[in-house]
Amino acid sequence: MEIPRLHPDTIEQVKQRADIVDVVSEHVVLRKQGKDFVGLCPFHEDKSPSFSVSPSKQFYYCFSCGAGGNAVKFLMELGKRSFSEVVLDLARRYQVSVQTLKVEERQEFQRQLSVREQLYEILALTAQFYQHALKQPAGHAALEYLTEKRHLSQETIQQFQLGYAPGGWETLFGYLVEQKHYPVELVEKAGLIVPRKSEETETPKGFRGYYDRFRDRLMIPIQDLQGRVIGFGGRTLTDEQPKYLNSPETDVFDKSKLLFGLDKARATIAKQDQAVVVEGYFDVIALHAVGITNAVASMGTALSVHQVRQLLRYTESKRIVLNFDTDRAGNQAAERAIGEVATLAYQGEVQLRILNIPAGKDPDEFLQSHASADYQQLLDQAPLWLDWQIQQAIAGQDLAQADQFQQSVQTIAKLLGNLPNATLRTHYIHHCAELLSQGNARLTLQLEETLRLQVRGERWHGRSQRWQTTSDRSLLEESEAQLLRLYLHAPQHRAAIVEALDSRDLEFSLSHHRFLWRQVLDLEDASSSDLISDLQDRCIEHPREMTQLYPLFQLDEKTKRDILRAPLAIRAATASMERVMCDKRCRHFQELWADSSAIAELSEYYQEKIYHEKRRMAELDR
Ligand code: UTP
Ligand code: MN
Repeated sequence: MEIPRLHPDTIEQVKQRADIVDVVSEHVVLRKQGKDFVGLCPFHEDKSPSFSVSPSKQFYYCFSCGAGGNAVKFLMELGKRSFSEVVLDLARRYQVSVQTLKVEERQEFQRQLSVREQLYEILALTAQFYQHALKQPAGHAALEYLTEKRHLSQETIQQFQLGYAPGGWETLFGYLVEQKHYPVELVEKAGLIVPRKSEETETPKGFRGYYDRFRDRLMIPIQDLQGRVIGFGGRTLTDEQPKYLNSPETDVFDKSKLLFGLDKARATIAKQDQAVVVEGYFDVIALHAVGITNAVASMGTALSVHQVRQLLRYTESKRIVLNFDTDRAGNQAAERAIGEVATLAYQGEVQLRILNIPAGKDPDEFLQSHASADYQQLLDQAPLWLDWQIQQAIAGQDLAQADQFQQSVQTIAKLLGNLPNATLRTHYIHHCAELLSQGNARLTLQLEETLRLQVRGERWHGRSQRWQTTSDRSLLEESEAQLLRLYLHAPQHRAAIVEALDSRDLEFSLSHHRFLWRQVLDLEDASSSDLISDLQDRCIEHPREMTQLYPLFQLDEKTKRDILRAPLAIRAATASMERVMCDKRCRHFQELWADSSAIAELSEYYQEKIYHEKRRMAELDR
């Protein structure tokens, strides 16, 4: 959209009114810390809160990636939007009247601005219209469906603004266009009416060439994060196809980017530090109705990275439980539904759990005959993504049969081959060997060896491109793990390790390592006499971290060798860690640089940064 030049007074007023905490907290979970706020930086992959917001200075700054600025800059960088666009948005939000430099420009601007604004207005009005219709005689069957069949309370119906689209061909059309005088084109743009395709088709009386998209359907408004209605899902009350008719993509509705219910769920997701993703509208509604308010729906499509990242903004420990219909076509359907999350799960960027409700029910069906506590229990027991897949590989196979046994081993080897983390791989190989050998200790040992070889084959095979992006991560993982092992098993070198970390300004970046390190520092403050045993005691209360940390308590061959040449090993590990950090920062600056080409000063500044990081990497490589 072409944007007119804004009057300096408008810009000034907006800057004064837009509060940085207000603006940032819409996109980042912030926690108060002293007089400032902290959170996970949205501009790089932040593992620990390094992003700080100062209300007194009206400024944000990230201590890891160096991003910083005021509220306008924040929104510009986050949404890749221009200065004027952001100022205009903020002006609307804080009710600052917009002045542009010329009268004609101003009129033009208001005309353009009004398209989106008017779409929101039309959609909100339509939601009200449907809500009203639900309470009319014509809406009786729909209302009965909600209360009798779905057992929903008036309160829930109200909370989700459920409604009914009447059966005529142009009921909504008449209301919006004739009664409220909205331009036909806008109502069409909102996805609410459809132009008649051909002239020959029989036209009902008074027909204007358009008909209502939603007729005789139960209407579920879809809202964005701000709670604005941006589209609808309409369920048939009969056997008509499709079961759900949804709004088309419009200027304000992009199904692939939206999670149904997130506006209502995000506070609980942040509070409980966990999100539940289900498939259907009614699953979300039923869960919220019984107090499980951290649930959102993907609306029947595979989860996109965009949707996952949106969720991860609200859960600090990145906990997502998927409760998808998995009985339909078994494992494969689930994997497709899981979509791009799987990649993130393998890389450890999301703690993904899979919940399968017994007897192939969806949450809504389950809750018709169970209490919310039963669902909560299922949630609490949901296995991690990889464990779930391993279960799937074994379930239903008769391991006493050679061919089925072989099949399970192969499937598992494939799964484990996807794990970029060597420590985890070793752990799982052992675990799976135990599972497959069913208590036969001699077989366990044999199987462990077989699996190890097969997994290696898988990795070799998949090496070409798949894990290139994660090579950094596994390097980091190995280096950090090695450093921690040395620290635990070689007390004489502890001071040197701390010194090496400090001098390079490094921290552990993987969350389980940070967790362990915190415990270490804690225990040392309390002058623990047997660090490893005290740590193990402590970690028992944290089974989740424990699975990943367990291998570190073991003194392996490599560490034994490294202890003999500790100074060198410490230097190598910390150099690798620093190298990964540099590379990450470098890529971040390159991205900023590519976006900043229009502003010469910025562009130069980023080039300087990139150059600096590259030089440091070259040094480290030597
Ligand atoms: P399901 O077919 O699994 O049904 O669709 P459901 O949610 O359990 O539906 P009910 O309980 O019979 O009402 C899951 C989701 O997929 C999308 C909807 O978002 C639905 O909630 N969907 C499904 C469509 O968009 N169109 C369809 O025709 C079917
Ligand atoms: Mn259902």
